[in-house]
Amino acid sequence: MENKEIINGNNTAIGVKDVDLYYGDFKALKKVNMDIKKGKITAFIGPSGCGKSTMLRCFNRMNDLVDDCKIEGLITIDGDDIYKKDVDVVELRRRVGMVFQSPNPFSKSVYDNITYGPKISGIKDKDRLDEIVEKSLKSAAIWDEVKDKLDQNALSFSGGQQQRICIARTLSVNPNIILMDEPTSALDPISTSAIEDLLDGLKNEYTIVIVTHNMQQAARISDQTAFFLTGEVIEMANTIDIFENPKDKRTEDYITGRFG
Ligand SMILES: Nc1ncnc2c1ncn2[C@@H]1O[C@H](COP(=O)(O)OP(=O)(O)OP(=O)(O)O)[C@@H](O)[C@H]1O
Ligand SMILES: [Mg+2]
Repeated sequence: MENKEIINGNNTAIGVKDVDLYYGDFKALKKVNMDIKKGKITAFIGPSGCGKSTMLRCFNRMNDLVDDCKIEGLITIDGDDIYKKDVDVVELRRRVGMVFQSPNPFSKSVYDNITYGPKISGIKDKDRLDEIVEKSLKSAAIWDEVKDKLDQNALSFSGGQQQRICIARTLSVNPNIILMDEPTSALDPISTSAIEDLLDGLKNEYTIVIVTHNMQQAARISDQTAFFLTGEVIEMANTIDIFENPKDKRTEDYITGRFG
């Protein structure tokens, strides 16, 4: 790993070095560099179509599923190149969980949603599965609301509850990194605030990367912020600096609502 030293400090979870990404002929990411810190929350902000979701999907190789998508440069997790030939993508996606914009629980019981991943990874013992269900739902701050309804279909809960069930499902396989693409944009303010609180509780144990269109949310919950514009990262810094003392005029214009 000759590149390890170049981009990875001890506290780097995800390293991005000179990444270009193409969908066919269209260049969606341009020479992106970043250092996503372990145990912190990193927010991606920027106008629609600037490449936030594209970047996020690189981290668990979801873009592999897109025909015609080509990635150049280096992306490392814990120092290892995740695009190397011998990488086990299934294992990568276990370590790097993802939560989407609209809650997408399976049409199964809450219990089956949470045990789905653990069962695939070979855990059969009922007590062990029960333990995982309780721990995951507690970490996702939804245990009290569902503990007497574990057999109920996950789709019968409210949107905010479903999103927390999805977060619990992600946690059940013990990831190191959680990617969230606008996880609260379909939720009401109370559910949003429940999720923000829960993220704050998770952040020391997990590295979290969250895409959000909500500036207040980025400012409230994240430690680092990256501002994207037409496929480039214009500025990445501690969140407080991005919002109080942006270095680039384009960042300032965006966060003060002058465009986007
Ligand atoms: N599968 C795809 N095939 C071709 N082009 C794509 C694909 N996915 C995204 N793009 C293009 O790449 C660019 C970046 O898209 P991306 O979805 O990453 O933006 P975004 O910042 O997440 O936007 P939004 O805030 O609207 O979600 C856009 O121009 C988009 O049209
Ligand atoms: Mg997006």
